[in-house]
Amino acid sequence: MAEFRTERRGGIEVWTIDGEGRRNAISRAMLRELVALTARAGADRTLRCVVVTGAGAKAFCAGADLKERASMTADDVHAFHEGLRRALRAIEEAPQVFVAALNGAALGGGLELALACDLRIAAETAELGLPEVGLGIIPGGGGTQRLPRLVGVARAKDLVLTARRVGAAEALAIGLVGRIAPAARLLEEALAYAGEAARNAPVSLRQAKRAIDGGLHLPLDAALDLENRLYQDCLGTKDRVEALRAFAEKRPPVFTGE
Ligand code: COA
Repeated sequence: MAEFRTERRGGIEVWTIDGEGRRNAISRAMLRELVALTARAGADRTLRCVVVTGAGAKAFCAGADLKERASMTADDVHAFHEGLRRALRAIEEAPQVFVAALNGAALGGGLELALACDLRIAAETAELGLPEVGLGIIPGGGGTQRLPRLVGVARAKDLVLTARRVGAAEALAIGLVGRIAPAARLLEEALAYAGEAARNAPVSLRQAKRAIDGGLHLPLDAALDLENRLYQDCLGTKDRVEALRAFAEKRPPVFTGE
């Protein structure tokens, strides 16, 4: 059985984790499919944005599949963990803009999946948290690193060390999500959010994402050099010429990604 439902809407694809009965927890099969979907997306030049969400109203993703884990050997757990780390990095490095639409609980690896996305929007009913220290582990899918980069060290320690869960309003206030929406309108709002990015020049989106992610923790001069290299790559594109022409002709640009 497929672990995701996928639906294409123009340049945007919606990936819905289809495991409501286990609160969309990350099983080995789900992880394999996530890797395959991300690889397929990476090769699709017409795909501009991906919206990742979960089935049902209860959970976006409840983290690692704890039932499956109970019967896993130490080697299995190690392999799963490595797979999760690589899968989340692949999302971060993908050319598309990834939007996490948090329709319910985003816990542990579920929140780490959302942290690897570029943008996050949460239903007003969602709850977010990294409960790992209460389970005898630490966040191991990038949570201890991506969370402080997003919300700062003090807030990250508050969340990780207490393992507490925050609601959508607090998540918005601390910058953990960029937007919130009524649960019934979440997907619509997430698609609109993705659309705001998808209408822009594809090469610019990819280079801007690389500049922000890659430059964040470089010394300033090195970060500015990185930005400059990525900027120069945009100068030779047909889309830059099209944007200037569209401006002169007072019409919206039509970008091709070239
Ligand atoms: N792995 C596997 N199954 C899970 C799961 C997980 N991470 N989280 C929930 N489930 C299963 C439950 O065992 C239950 O299965 P059952 O019907 O066979 O008993 C089913 O999903 C529904 O769970 P329930 O807790 O009744 O749902 P809820 O809607 O009241 O609450 C959550 C949803 C996500 C808030 C709650 O299930 C939860 O806190 N899960 C644990 C999250 C967690 O600690 N993840 C690990 C991070 S490392």
